[in-house]
Amino acid sequence: MVKDIKKIVLSYSGGLDTSIILKWLQETYKCEVVTFTADLGQGEELEPARAKAEMLGIKDIRIVDVREEFVRDFVFPMFRANTVYEGQYLLGSSIARPLIAKHLVRIAQEVGADAISHGATGKGNDQVRFELTVNALDPSIKVIAPWREWNIQSRTHLIEYAERNQIPVPKDKRGEAPFSIDANLLHTSSEGKVLEDPADIAPDYVYQRTVDPVDAPNVPEIITIGFETGDAVSLNGVKLSPATLLTRLNELGGKHGVGRIDLVENRFLGMKSRGVYETPGGTILLAAHRGIESITLDRGAAHLKDEIMPRYAELIYNGFWYAPEREMLQALIDWSQTHVAGEVTVKLHKGSVSVIARSSPNSLYSMDLVTFEEGSGSYDHHDAEGFIKLNGLRLKTLAARSQKLGN
Ligand code: ARG
Repeated sequence: MVKDIKKIVLSYSGGLDTSIILKWLQETYKCEVVTFTADLGQGEELEPARAKAEMLGIKDIRIVDVREEFVRDFVFPMFRANTVYEGQYLLGSSIARPLIAKHLVRIAQEVGADAISHGATGKGNDQVRFELTVNALDPSIKVIAPWREWNIQSRTHLIEYAERNQIPVPKDKRGEAPFSIDANLLHTSSEGKVLEDPADIAPDYVYQRTVDPVDAPNVPEIITIGFETGDAVSLNGVKLSPATLLTRLNELGGKHGVGRIDLVENRFLGMKSRGVYETPGGTILLAAHRGIESITLDRGAAHLKDEIMPRYAELIYNGFWYAPEREMLQALIDWSQTHVAGEVTVKLHKGSVSVIARSSPNSLYSMDLVTFEEGSGSYDHHDAEGFIKLNGLRLKTLAARSQKLGN
């Protein structure tokens, strides 16, 4: 445990756990604590966090609306790569951590703090993501992770500590929380407790921001998303800022039951964990982005992007946003997006999202080339014969050997 800390910046949600952490830091390190609360679009009132921090004697309280920065500088760059971890997870929590840590470092530098602290537990990926970011941005800043240091081991113990220190405990927080939630503009993630056994079906009350597809409207909704250099810029012809656009897509996706996923993932720390994710707007965005890329990206470029994507996703999942290899891959991805512009029409219906039309001023799609009717003559059918012959040459050679050897 690091001692002799002069000032700490704490990532503070205003919830029970981080309020206890706040008190514990004051008691243990006997130094000033500055709180940082990020508005990431988690859909919670943040003013109560200010009141609670004040009550706990905090003088310097920072509440920052980072929604536009989150979507513009983190979510959108990630979506340019069609990023999905292990085929399913859209990385809603993973991509928010470097942003939060970046602000913790900035504030620490501003106020002359020598440490930052967070409420991530000792078994999860989030501690890794926070701390790798701090290491990358300012190696002189120390990290205090109370969940790895203190001797509070159970919920009962935690409540007792709160009561002893006059931290108000909401009635519904007295028992065990039914599961752990992390929410922001991109997703809501639920894991632990009632979700721990992957053999048990998740109860309906786990879902927070999407309707059950069964209860979604019977009439499909058709929307059009506009793209420029790989980023969504408009909805139904109206230009919107990144965060506003994602907020609108979340409302639409939520209403139509889009983006629910129940999965088991491999954590960086080595264990498997079951999670339930809701990513309504992100799921629409992913489908639409693939739609616009389908007509604007060359095959070679598109396939190379798809090859590197799992590696890129793993880097983000593992907390290496600020690592040279992520930045190198980002440069490649961003370069590929130069001509990714146009409009995609998407149909939302009972949990599904389908691209039904796409158009672009930069389209590589050639009706003349692909048509079943007579084209203009730039394609000679006879060329296909030689193309297949040469590609088949080695297959013929192999087959002849097999026949000769009888295997
Ligand atoms: N397993 C997810 C990840 O590592 C979510 C972590 C936070 N979620 C939570 N409910 N505490 O990105």
